[in-house]
Order: sequence, then C-alpha cells, then structure tokens
Amino acid sequence: MNATPPSDRAERLLWLGIETSCDETGVAVVEERSGRIRGIGALLTSQVNRHRPFGGIVPELAVREHARNLPLLVPQLLARLGLSPLDLGGIAVTEGPGLASSLLIGNAYARAMGASLGLPVFGVNHLEGHLFSPFLEGSEPIPFPFLGLVASGGHTLLAAVEGWNRYRILSSTSDDAAGEALDKIARLLGLPYPGGPEIERLASQGDPKAFCFPRGFPETGDLRFSFSGVKTAVRYFLEQHSERRADPHFLSSVAASLQDSVVRTLCEKALWAASKGGFRTLAAAGGVLANRRLREMLEAGCSDAGLSCRIAPPALCTDNAVMIASAAALKSAAGIPPSLSQDIDPGLPLAV
Ligand code: KG4
Ligand code: ZN
Repeated sequence: MNATPPSDRAERLLWLGIETSCDETGVAVVEERSGRIRGIGALLTSQVNRHRPFGGIVPELAVREHARNLPLLVPQLLARLGLSPLDLGGIAVTEGPGLASSLLIGNAYARAMGASLGLPVFGVNHLEGHLFSPFLEGSEPIPFPFLGLVASGGHTLLAAVEGWNRYRILSSTSDDAAGEALDKIARLLGLPYPGGPEIERLASQGDPKAFCFPRGFPETGDLRFSFSGVKTAVRYFLEQHSERRADPHFLSSVAASLQDSVVRTLCEKALWAASKGGFRTLAAAGGVLANRRLREMLEAGCSDAGLSCRIAPPALCTDNAVMIASAAALKSAAGIPPSLSQDIDPGLPLAV
C-alpha cells in the first residue's frame, strides 16, 4: 500500500474520516492537496435524544446506534458526493480515547473497508483531531509551535504543540472536564443533556456577576484545572436557596455566574500559559469552545496579549469526523506514515 504521498504532490487525495468515540456517529470526506485541506462533505448522526432520558451517555445504547448508523452513513455520504469508494485514497478512524465499545465499531468498520479496498487506514487520536481543528479553514501552513487548548466533555488540557506527534501536556484536569462539569451542573438546574449549550442559553438572560462561584486552582501561574468545586458549590447554593428556584431570573443568573467561573478559568490559564511559554498562537477547540462567551473572552484576551487566536468554528468544536479525516490527511501529507495499532485504546494519551 502506498500510503505516504510526498507533501509537494499536486494531485488531490480524498480521505474518508470515521468518528465513533462517544455518542456521535460522524463520517466525512476531505480533500488534501499539497498539504491544504478542503472539506467535501460530512454526515453526523446525533444520539442526544436516545441518551437524554438517562441524563448522560449509556455506552450500551451508543454502541448499538453506531453499529446501525455507520453502514448507512458511509454509502449515503459517498452517494451524495457522487463518489465511489475507489475514489478514496485513505481512511482515518478515531482509535482513542473514548468509549471502548463505541471505538470498536468505528475501527472494525474502517479496517474491513480498508482491507476490502486495499486502502491505508490511519488511526487518529481524538484529541489530535480537536487540537488541529482550528486550522482546517484557510490556506496558511500550521503555525508550529502553538499552544493548544482542548475543553470538551471528556478532556480539559493545555498542550505545547511543537510539530506532528510532538505534543507536550502542560496541564490537564484533576477531576471533572469542563464540559462534564457543565453537564452535571445542568442536571442540578433541571436542564437536559448535553448541559453546556443549555447553560449557555439560560445564562444569556442572566447576570454573570450576580453570584460568585469558586474557581479551581485560582492562583496565577497554577495551570492545573479543577471543575468539581464549582459543581459542588452550585449544588449547595441551590439547596440553600431552594425557595428561589421558581424564579427564572434567579436560575438564569446562577447559570450566567457559573458559566463565567468555568469560562474565565479556561481563558486565564490558557493566556497565562501562552505568555509564559512564549507562544505566538493560541488554538482552541473541543465542545466547550462552542460557547460564545468563552470564544469572545479568548479572542479579546489574545488581542490584548498580541497573540494570534485560532478557535475552531462552532460546528467543528463538538465531535465530528472532519477533524479526524483532516488530521490523517495533514499528517500523511507531512510524510508521517499511517498507523493503526492492533487494538483501540480507550485511554490513549495525547503525548507519551
Ligand atoms: O468535544 P465534544 O463534542 O465531546 C467530547 O470529546 O467530550 O464535547 C462535548 C461537551 C459536552 O460536555 C457539552 O456540554 C459541551 O461540550 N458543550 C458546550 C457547548 N456545546 C457543547 N459547553 C458550553 N457551551 C456550549 N455551547
Ligand atoms: Zn471530543
């Protein structure tokens, strides 16, 4: 299998991406030409309505949905794009981190398709997909080194990204991920899953300065994240003020204040790490970066600090297959050979 096209190759190469690490079944086709990416088409089946009654993701349900969706979505996408599987140059699949059973479905499908078509299969780290998603629009090369911020339902981390496969974790969370905390707090507020967008909606009517909720490791220079404290504080606060729960303004101000605590923490730590590490670019992605207040705060902070701020477009912040196909296509174009380990890895680290 000829899997490593040189980076100055002029012809286009089409990559199929498959993302099944959690509760979204995503498939996408991207085109890579001379190291530049263009999204061709994507389909995403959200399982939110299936999991919502349980207040979170049920792995057993997720795996059944992936197994049902994937064999439908891939042919549907290719047909919609007028492509045959033989037009593809490679397949990219998330090999971890994520839910084991969900990852297995995507990997089994990708391996079977790769074997039957004689196509290279590239295993992509889900976090790597998020890290590079701010750079998928535009035509400039990736500005290594950059500081990456990933804030999602499963992860919250800052990483020095020095080149392909050269990632140094500077900080991660000691307990809940930012999105996980928002999802749990939303439940306390009686809001459905996923909680982040619901809290954002409620917060838009409230006063972010109404209440002061704690922030994990607030000391300047301490890069560690912690979001379980704010969750516990909101729980006790709601119990102490149970008589005010019927007041919509009270609830929206609670949402705005706790959102502010989470968003400010992410923003301040990222900006501090960027200035301390001498980075010129801050790149941010992951589901929580779909939050408008966080995006605005990061953009303003970067502008004040003279940093280039790259945030993935909202549709590419939450899980998707475009970022998986693109990471594989860009790595392949940079001369990094496709690799797929023998097994999925639910705890796959970004840096080893
Ligand atoms: O990246 P993602 O789709 O999945 C993981 O890799 O975990 O992130 C999902 C997380 C959920 O916790 C969800 O509540 C949060 O991202 N999220 C948001 C927003 N949209 C999604 N959090 C805050 N504001 C949003 N608008
Ligand atoms: Zn994700």
